[in-house]
Amino acid sequence: MAVDVLLGLQWGDEGKGKIVDVLSPRYDIIARFQGGPNAGHTLEFEGIKHVLHTIPSGIFRKNLTNVIGNGVVIDPIVLDKEISSLKEKRVEINQQLIVSDKAHLILPTHKYLDAYYEHLKGDKKIGSTLKGIGPTYTDKYARNGMRVGDILHQDFSAKYQKLKEKHLQIIGDFKAPGFSLEDTESLWFKSIDRLKKLPIKDTALYLNTALNAGKKILAEGAQGALLDVDFGSYPYVTSSSTLSAGACVGLGIAPKHIGEVYGIFKAYCTRVGSGPFLTELTGKQGEAIQNEGHEFGATTGRPRRCGWLDLVALKYTCMLSGVDRLMMMKADVLHIVEELKICTSYSKDGQKIEHFISSSDQSVELSPNYEVVSSWGKLDHIKTTGLPATLEAYVQKIEAYLNLPIDIVSFGPDREETLSIKKVDYSL
Ligand code: GDP
Ligand code: IMO
Ligand code: MG
Repeated sequence: MAVDVLLGLQWGDEGKGKIVDVLSPRYDIIARFQGGPNAGHTLEFEGIKHVLHTIPSGIFRKNLTNVIGNGVVIDPIVLDKEISSLKEKRVEINQQLIVSDKAHLILPTHKYLDAYYEHLKGDKKIGSTLKGIGPTYTDKYARNGMRVGDILHQDFSAKYQKLKEKHLQIIGDFKAPGFSLEDTESLWFKSIDRLKKLPIKDTALYLNTALNAGKKILAEGAQGALLDVDFGSYPYVTSSSTLSAGACVGLGIAPKHIGEVYGIFKAYCTRVGSGPFLTELTGKQGEAIQNEGHEFGATTGRPRRCGWLDLVALKYTCMLSGVDRLMMMKADVLHIVEELKICTSYSKDGQKIEHFISSSDQSVELSPNYEVVSSWGKLDHIKTTGLPATLEAYVQKIEAYLNLPIDIVSFGPDREETLSIKKVDYSL
């Protein structure tokens, strides 16, 4: 058996949560491998919307185990709130959720540091979600971090105090608006007590044993390839490896066990926070897509910047993760535009460029070259009518450019608003 991987190919919020939920009945285990509560993964079914930040998106399906892997950073307060909100909805998480003993903990002062570092950046702010992600990964790689396994040891409190003091020294007099360390700290310790009640394990061992026993595993990515710490638009990125290779390190799975890599992308592009966005629509058309697509962050509520699909960037991110199959999300949203554009190359100093260049390199002046294609009407009935010809043509254009199949077209937020357009059996 192999571990399949599902990833975002743009700047996050592609619809990963929805598709993991749709595919999860085919799997025994769903495992998150990187990121933390900067993620907001939305699922909708039976008229109810759920947003998950740390818990894998297989949690609503029965007889399935959800693993929070070693590559994830956990804010116990956020995790505790997620569990409580699931319990209120009568979702049983006992023994359905396993946490790695090696996942790192986000301390209250990590969030404080996040705000401090953003403050220092002035007008070059990353637009971080301020969930403490960057500072926690910094401590991990500087070998100062605290891991979930530490909460089971006697010296936990002492370790915590030591790291907290270190952070406070860095922060100095800086006061983050609306942040009370005392209040957050007491909530954090209460949440740690509840975290202790979950099964805390060497999840690499658990997953590899499951794999050998023939279990099917899906690794769930967070963020997207263009936010990857190495290959994204640095420094406007997150602090983890969002590519398929990140699943190996973030779960303890050897590369030879990686199976299908599913790449998720929106039929257009969005980005929250700062950083380059070559195909961005800053005027009324961008606003119209934002409103129709409800493009407001699932974690911070911030408006998402919107723009046309960038195939040059998509080809690059498919290459980075070795994507096998594609899923196109939010096709329904584009019914509001009559003509839509699709970026198929860039120009630099009057010269055509057909490969991806990160425009975060400020010395490079790039402009997008577009092809114009016709849009389609509402897609409410495509499960019975099939794809309209114009959408079919859009799908074929993307497939030809990327030399990869699009298996699924998503046409609404609900689980049911998902159409399998290839002969692959996703049991939708
Ligand atoms: P994730 O972070 O990749 O899981 O994506 P988010 O949940 O942050 O953002 C995707 C948003 O689009 C959510 O509000 C979803 O409910 C919604 N969504 C997902 N697929 C579709 C779709 O095909 N059409 C529409 N209109 N909304 C969708
Ligand atoms: P999901 O999993 C969209 C963005 C932030 C910011 C940058 C760095 O829901 O797709 P960080 O908090 O990591 O320091 O922020 O990355 N960002 C996301 N954008 N979706 C996400 O996750 C994101 N997680 C981080 O907006 O620009
Ligand atoms: Mg999201």
